[in-house]
Amino acid sequence: MTKDVIRVLLIDDDEDDCVVTRDLLEEVEGQSFYFKWVPTHHEAVEEIRRGGYHVFLLDVRLGSWSGLDILRYELDHGRKGPVVVLTGHGTRELDVEAMQSGAAGYLVKGTFGAAELERTIRYAIERHRYLPTETGREEGSELARTLVFMGAKGGVGTTTVAANVAAALVRGGREATILDLRSQFGTLASQLDVAPSTSLYDLLELEVEKIDENALDNCLRRHSSGLGVLCSPQRAFNEEQISADCAAAIMKSAGKNKEFVVVDLPSEVTPGSREVLTSADFIGIVVEREPSCVLHAEKNLDMLRAWNVGGTVGLVLVDRTPRSAPLPVSTIRARLNCDVYGTIPAAPDVYQEAQTQGGPLVLLAPQHDAVGALVELAERLSAEKLLPVPV
Ligand SMILES: Nc1ncnc2c1ncn2[C@@H]1O[C@H](COP(=O)(O)OP(=O)(O)O)[C@@H](O)[C@H]1O
Ligand SMILES: [Mg+2]
Repeated sequence: MTKDVIRVLLIDDDEDDCVVTRDLLEEVEGQSFYFKWVPTHHEAVEEIRRGGYHVFLLDVRLGSWSGLDILRYELDHGRKGPVVVLTGHGTRELDVEAMQSGAAGYLVKGTFGAAELERTIRYAIERHRYLPTETGREEGSELARTLVFMGAKGGVGTTTVAANVAAALVRGGREATILDLRSQFGTLASQLDVAPSTSLYDLLELEVEKIDENALDNCLRRHSSGLGVLCSPQRAFNEEQISADCAAAIMKSAGKNKEFVVVDLPSEVTPGSREVLTSADFIGIVVEREPSCVLHAEKNLDMLRAWNVGGTVGLVLVDRTPRSAPLPVSTIRARLNCDVYGTIPAAPDVYQEAQTQGGPLVLLAPQHDAVGALVELAERLSAEKLLPVPV
């Protein structure tokens, strides 16, 4: 899969219809979807307010409120995405009324298949992309591409890769935010030499409903390059894990009006990281070129496949120490049956020097040989289409 994940919110009080829609989206070839379902008017309004969707599928009859009212509400409160109306009994009047309310598409339940659903969604998004918004930005740019890095195990260079990719994006003129999503003692802050005086800790103290773009912004530290950094709490944290809801709210807030959100995830899976992985556009498993690490990567990939994650999954191979015989790239690719997006050579001295000086390397020593591979990785991950290193 090479296309970015399309985030879909279905607003429909009928669970059977939810299952049908979800199944149809899963059938679509060549495009993956992040799918969320809300059955009530109340939850719909909340979810719409939070934002973070590319398209809304709206049942026209939703409990006591007519779906069209939600549509009008949605349109009155700053257009957040195109709405495709679903109805159980298509009539011409309804069709006309839906269009007049600003719907971008219309589908009669039970009459469409995966291909028509996909096409309607795609057209709705395409049309919507070119509508001007209050801020003058194109609506299509509202959501960032999320690049998530997870180590096959700890200590393989994941934070280094994430920090350098984010820094390379910013150096290339792109807007990016980087998040260290672990509940305690991540090393991103020290790798980027930012003081974690505000951190994820402050967000985790809020009720989930309060986590929005503003709240996140207040917790971000600014690296001298302009990169926004969400540090992890630099203290033992009482609650052991970040919840899925909390992670979803953070990701949505981070994605607003940014081009890229880069995430440094711990190698142990938590409910929060599972949420991040399921909705990521790209998941880079960071692997050292030695057998035991490849074994760990295999377990991670099995897990991601079992979850049916929608985004592109790829490998980032790292050598931290010069090896006499690192596993060949082709062997790892074949063994893991997964594409490779970057191969980062060992350069212990320069990485250590970068850490002492408060890196990241791509900014400190842009001319260094070791930087080329990091910049190339960032370019691959920011290209219009995510394409792996050719075999
Ligand atoms: N390509 C590399 N060559 C040499 N040292 C590296 C390389 N990548 C990372 N390191 C070093 O390895 C150590 C662990 O890296 P880190 O990114 O913190 O790993 P993780 O996040 O997986 O725990 C750090 O000291 C870092 O400077
Ligand atoms: Mg790390």
